[in-house]
Amino acid sequence: MTEHFTYEDYQRAAGVIRERFPLPARVGLILGSGVNPLADDIAAQAVIPYAEIPYFPRPSIEGHVGRLVCGTLENVPILCLQGRAHYYEGVSMAQVTFPVRVLQLLGVDTLIVTNAAGGLNPDFKVGDLMVITDHIGFTNLTGLNPLRGPNDERLGPRFPDMTHAYDRELIRLAMEAAREAGVPLHKGIYVGLSGPSFETPAELRFLRAIGGDAVGMSTVPEVTVARHAGMRVLGISGISNIAIFDPDERREASHEEVLEAGGQIAPRLRAVIRGVLRRLYPS
Ligand code: HPA
Repeated sequence: MTEHFTYEDYQRAAGVIRERFPLPARVGLILGSGVNPLADDIAAQAVIPYAEIPYFPRPSIEGHVGRLVCGTLENVPILCLQGRAHYYEGVSMAQVTFPVRVLQLLGVDTLIVTNAAGGLNPDFKVGDLMVITDHIGFTNLTGLNPLRGPNDERLGPRFPDMTHAYDRELIRLAMEAAREAGVPLHKGIYVGLSGPSFETPAELRFLRAIGGDAVGMSTVPEVTVARHAGMRVLGISGISNIAIFDPDERREASHEEVLEAGGQIAPRLRAVIRGVLRRLYPS
């Protein structure tokens, strides 16, 4: 398990991608559980399996395809990570975030991150979308910060600020795009945990009490690296299940329900992301 990569490692991976997709792309898109099919919208010029890119982690779980789709969406050149690796799969935080670094070297300055998340806010329903206004990163707070280790100043500062982790202008554009498409879009705080076990009811009550609106097992590491890299970030969660706060309830959380909800989430997410891209670079 590689704990640290060098600038040259990132450059090697970026070089492989540049050979197959020479167009400069400023937008990166990470597709999470249940919404991988959104990559089909992209007019693809190159589709590169992660296995063909040096050091790229290969997702091992269902619902994560593991390909870099390079092309245009709404006429915007885009590099789309169709599937991600999670820390719980057994890779290091450096591996989880390796693709974000490579996007940085390829010139990406705007990162759109999606995920499936459990709803903590009682107003949320399965299939709803939430634009992330801030996060509580348990992985970062407990020492699993992807920036741990030597800092290369060419990539970013030793102590990056996280006040503006989620770009206010991108949030505004997402709200506008959602309104135009008739898609309800909540705003809220994402809590990032390591997984893979789902939370106990007591843990979920705790996460709600500290201000969380949705909970998931990804995103925080990638956003941390993206901010270190100076990218502006838009994060959108699809609510795939509702937190069970009472241990006497008979229901349980499962990955199947997370994937199933993707069917409801994907078309809404598609409308919002396409609307944001149209607004980012109006033609
Ligand atoms: N908890 C943690 N991660 C998740 C959940 C959840 O309920 N749903 C989707 N990812």
